[in-house]
Amino acid sequence: MPRDAQALSVVHESLPHDSATLHVTGQATYVDDIPEPHGTLHIALGLAPRARGRIVALDLAAVRSAEGVVCVITGKDVPGKNDSSPHLGDEPMLATSEVAFHNQAVFAVVATTRKAARLAARLGRIEIEAETPCVSIADARAEGGRVLPDYAWENDHVAHALSEAQHRLVGEIEIGGQEHFYLEGQVAFALPGEGDEMFVHSSTQHPSEVQHIVARVLGVADHNVTIECRRMGGGFGGKESQASQFAAIAAVAAKLTKYPCKLRLDRDDDFVLTGKRHDFRSAYQVGFDEEGRIRALDLALDARCGYSADLTLGVVDRAMFHSDNAYFLPEAQISTRRLKTNTVSNTAYRGFGGPQGMLATECILDAIAHQLGRDPLDVRKANFYAPGRDRTPYGMPVADCDILLPLVERLETTSEYRARRAEIAAFNAGSPILKKGIALTPVKFGISFTLKHLNQAGALVHVYSDGSVSLNHGGTEMGQGLYVKVAQIVADVFGLPLAAVKITATNTSKVPNTGPTAASSGSDLNGMAAKIAAETIRERMAAEAARRFGCMPGDVVFEHGMVRGAGAEIAFGALAKACVLERISLSSTGFYSTPGITWDRMKRTGRPFFYFAYGAACSEVIIDTMTGEMKLLRADILHDCGQSLNPAIDIGQIEGGFVQGLGWLTTEELVFDAEGRLRTHAPSTYKIPVASDVPADLRTALWYEPNREAAIHHSKAVGEPPVMLAISVFSAVADAVHAIRPGLPVSLRAPATPEAILDACDAQKGLA
Ligand code: MTE
Ligand code: MOS
Repeated sequence: MPRDAQALSVVHESLPHDSATLHVTGQATYVDDIPEPHGTLHIALGLAPRARGRIVALDLAAVRSAEGVVCVITGKDVPGKNDSSPHLGDEPMLATSEVAFHNQAVFAVVATTRKAARLAARLGRIEIEAETPCVSIADARAEGGRVLPDYAWENDHVAHALSEAQHRLVGEIEIGGQEHFYLEGQVAFALPGEGDEMFVHSSTQHPSEVQHIVARVLGVADHNVTIECRRMGGGFGGKESQASQFAAIAAVAAKLTKYPCKLRLDRDDDFVLTGKRHDFRSAYQVGFDEEGRIRALDLALDARCGYSADLTLGVVDRAMFHSDNAYFLPEAQISTRRLKTNTVSNTAYRGFGGPQGMLATECILDAIAHQLGRDPLDVRKANFYAPGRDRTPYGMPVADCDILLPLVERLETTSEYRARRAEIAAFNAGSPILKKGIALTPVKFGISFTLKHLNQAGALVHVYSDGSVSLNHGGTEMGQGLYVKVAQIVADVFGLPLAAVKITATNTSKVPNTGPTAASSGSDLNGMAAKIAAETIRERMAAEAARRFGCMPGDVVFEHGMVRGAGAEIAFGALAKACVLERISLSSTGFYSTPGITWDRMKRTGRPFFYFAYGAACSEVIIDTMTGEMKLLRADILHDCGQSLNPAIDIGQIEGGFVQGLGWLTTEELVFDAEGRLRTHAPSTYKIPVASDVPADLRTALWYEPNREAAIHHSKAVGEPPVMLAISVFSAVADAVHAIRPGLPVSLRAPATPEAILDACDAQKGLA
């Protein structure tokens, strides 16, 4: 046990991740590590060879007769409903009549080994009457298909305010998608039980939804299905909705064969079969004054959603909610189109649309600064929310917006932004080919699910008669440190060391009807539910202790493994034993729902967020204007975690999120060809950041001010907001390009790959 696990003051301490040692020694059990019972079968999927069209013939004879094959499953064999969509019924588990994207799953092969299943899957003949696929955003704009209706926050004053503004700019920003590239791919292991029972180990952020969808495809009631997830090797949003299909296929296979069945996607299959971050085209018209203050913004966001709705509603709404970022927009109109394409259905990805919404506005601020010849940081600061200028485009005031300016100014000082800006100007003056750039950008991110009912959580806590504690809750662990944070909270309630609390796997039979672990709210929700459960037990124990000590229950103190009152004391374990003998229940559930969430989407009124998390980053880059190469030289980060539950874990989230955002904005590029085939479906063609992409000089600090809202121990959620700190890198690249010919607008697309940077440099030089 790590020494720190003995620490007595456990909340707000930098304790290691509960599985850190297991992770680095390879002992942590992921789904594919669970010992396989005798007779376990393995599944591989047969994928559509075209992106769009009617399936006219399906010849699976060669698959069926291949070595090791036990059975072949098509959509027609599904015992319940062939539907693995979250709720709209627009995603068949296996396509039957139409294919909607290239490599959509059409059949599943169940065989004695994984290799046999994979080899056999290639023998299927899927004949498709192919149609021209609708692939790009341009295609979709022309064709006009939608996965969901258009949605806008209209504003009748915008046109007038734009026409009155001293300056105006019009433009369009291209924002790429992103593959999750979790280290552990999608995987599910289904074990059939008696009668209709089915137990599924699933690598999922949303066990309750997987339970529901497995029950739906099996045609049984939810109570027959148990989903368990001890940990994921990363989710990043990619397992919020999209683990269901693979769990459903494994469960159907287990039902039909009556044997345990496992489906673990190969990396290439995972790439082509699962959705990504939505890519966007964001068109804008902005009006502003001489200081660069925005007077009016008309923003039109087009998102490529793929073939089905999936989580697009929330993702694109969150892009709208974050297109203000940290800035007061006196008049704003934000409209969205959720474009349907013959590509895999795009889904949640860390930030959930927020990053795409925010990037557009940050690009607009850079464009304003370049146009006016002002420092972009000054233009940003002039636009910050401030008391009296604090109403968002969706009507919610930013109550604690007074954090923004001091946070940004502290980073401005500690990063020596002004001095480095001057040094960079001097460097650029003497360097015709290599150019440096710097940018300091803020983040304001709304915490809560914008879908009200998801803001709830449950927990189950037991104290055993030896005083050891067992903890379960609806949140899932994907590496972010949720389990250790919640365990810290429970240990604190009982005055016990962290090691006294046993963390157990998320399981739908222990805590039911949960939301996904997403929207960064895992510790806010589950931490509070677990605290409530633990406090219920502590109250009962305190009453028993008070009876023994002859004092009031309120005077009983739990600390350092002891329970004290009226000068007497008893060890926590001895009190637990005494409670059992006195027939006092030492088990409790806890339930929490976030207060004050009142957002009404149709009426565009109410409050969508409990609070906001803030941060800022300052990045310096150097680019080669002849090749487009780029290097991030230094990054300084100051991020608000409120009163951090665990600073070490939070710094890990901040730096990890920043680097993931860096990948999104600089190296990770998804290329679909005109046939709708994803050409970048492996690490050979898709470049995620590695250790050498992390800047040699990375300085991370926490803004340590208690959350003004009564969130768990006055901390703030941290999972997603840091991704958007990487916008400072993109902006720094734009700054470096701008240095080629100051005053000319920069035209840089995201991701800023070497090709994109070179194109932007050529345009700046007047060569494009
Ligand atoms: N950190 C790690 N290591 N792995 C992950 O998969 N997912 C991110 C973030 N940090 C993720 C991560 C996403 S998308 C979210 S929404 C949050 O963690 C979810 O966990 P939380 O709500 O407990 O912060
Ligand atoms: Mo995170 S994108 O909300 O799973």
